[in-house]
Amino acid sequence: MLSPANPLAPDWLVVPDDANDLAEGVWPASAARDADGTLILSGIRSTTLTQKYGTPLLVLDEDEVRLRARALRAAFDAAAAEHDTTARVYYAGKAFLCTAVARWVVEEGLSVDVCTRGELEVALAAGVTPSSIGFHGNNKSVSELERAVEVGVGTIIVDSAIEIERLAAITARTDRVQRVMVRVISGVHAETHDFLATAHEDQKFGFPLPDAEKAVARIREISGLEFVGLHCHIGSQIFGVAGFRESASRVLELHAALLAGGTVPQLNLGGGFGIAYTRVDDPTPIAELAAGIVAAVAEGCAARGIPVPALAFEPGRAIVGTAGVTLYEVGTTKDVTVESGAARLYVSVDGGMSDNARPALYGAQYSARLASRAGVGEALLTRVVGKHCESGDIVVDHEYLPGDVTPGDLLAVPATGAYCASLASNYNHVPRPPVIAVRGGKATVIVRGESIDDLLARDAGVHAEDISEGAQ
Ligand code: LLP
Repeated sequence: MLSPANPLAPDWLVVPDDANDLAEGVWPASAARDADGTLILSGIRSTTLTQKYGTPLLVLDEDEVRLRARALRAAFDAAAAEHDTTARVYYAGKAFLCTAVARWVVEEGLSVDVCTRGELEVALAAGVTPSSIGFHGNNKSVSELERAVEVGVGTIIVDSAIEIERLAAITARTDRVQRVMVRVISGVHAETHDFLATAHEDQKFGFPLPDAEKAVARIREISGLEFVGLHCHIGSQIFGVAGFRESASRVLELHAALLAGGTVPQLNLGGGFGIAYTRVDDPTPIAELAAGIVAAVAEGCAARGIPVPALAFEPGRAIVGTAGVTLYEVGTTKDVTVESGAARLYVSVDGGMSDNARPALYGAQYSARLASRAGVGEALLTRVVGKHCESGDIVVDHEYLPGDVTPGDLLAVPATGAYCASLASNYNHVPRPPVIAVRGGKATVIVRGESIDDLLARDAGVHAEDISEGAQ
């Protein structure tokens, strides 16, 4: 017998009063239940969406993306104005990039950050002005750099001494001047609720602070490169200001030293602002975060007697994460009793780690609700799992769902807008689902789903002669 207060439940998981409720902050603002209990997103019943587009389905609430993009920009604009500077917000395309999303964020006044040739091409295909694009990556190839310089990317964030020489050669060859920033490691490593500060980071990105001065000196020698400032990204899914504050203080030390050798007009502090995946997550409101980070920079500058540089930030998850809701169909359910006698309900859905790798990759926690109806019955501890041949194929590790969840029900998993579609795979030859934008009662396909033909298209043997003939 499964019961609500279950010893298999982690301490943080709350037994809900109502296992059909939509926790505030976890769902897009437009999410609600219709009179009959069906989940609606931006005015559209989830059942209408899945009848038309099938499952799994990633639904992206356009107004939520726009609202968050606007809120971030407004928050950083206001915070920067307080300290007589400016702040530019880049959307970190790695969170989820397609031409529609690129256009939405640009319309809301954001720039775009890319980190591969592929992301760059999507941004260009969307019509993003090249000079408003920032180009990242620890291993940009010569051809990627050539393409970036050729199209006139605004800023290339250099990550290694080798990349500086590659850019020197490319700009000399093409007679161009490329603006560059230098990515540094501040030694601050942010965790979700806390941060660690170490002097030496054992990881692949950027220049350790002691080496960065040399890199900047080298850039300043190269006539084809214009040094515009330092860049530092301390991590992702960060909730507080403390990590940014510590990091800014360390980076400003170098920033101030560099002023002795020339101008340093900008400082980019990266992204990483956290969102709520479950009801217990409590991210700092964006206005508070922006005010806190910019104030920390301003204080650091005042202490060193230097002007506050133009600032830039690169949020990805905080813009698209909460806007995404994945709809799955329940295929099977199973009571699983462990040795202690405790039990949980396994609910298998028709997607999994191919459309959301984050639980398997990072142990990420999500939440879920019935979407095609409101459930009845006692809330049961459930684990929502996918259809892949792997026991780590978990979609929602721990959740209380109505006990009558049954095959054919639609299940909705919120907060899947960031790093789900962008990390999707074809594991087990499962086609990647479509992405549908919803706005004001209207649904639009923004990325079509893959077909079986798509899956077979790259297999060079598909149209080869019948092997049985060859064997004769
Ligand atoms: N800027 C830089 C240089 C970055 O490396 C990243 C993320 C961002 C901005 C955007 O961070 P955001 O605001 O989205 O947290 N796949 C992981 C996250 C990897 C983030 C990598 N870099 C996940 O699913 O949690």
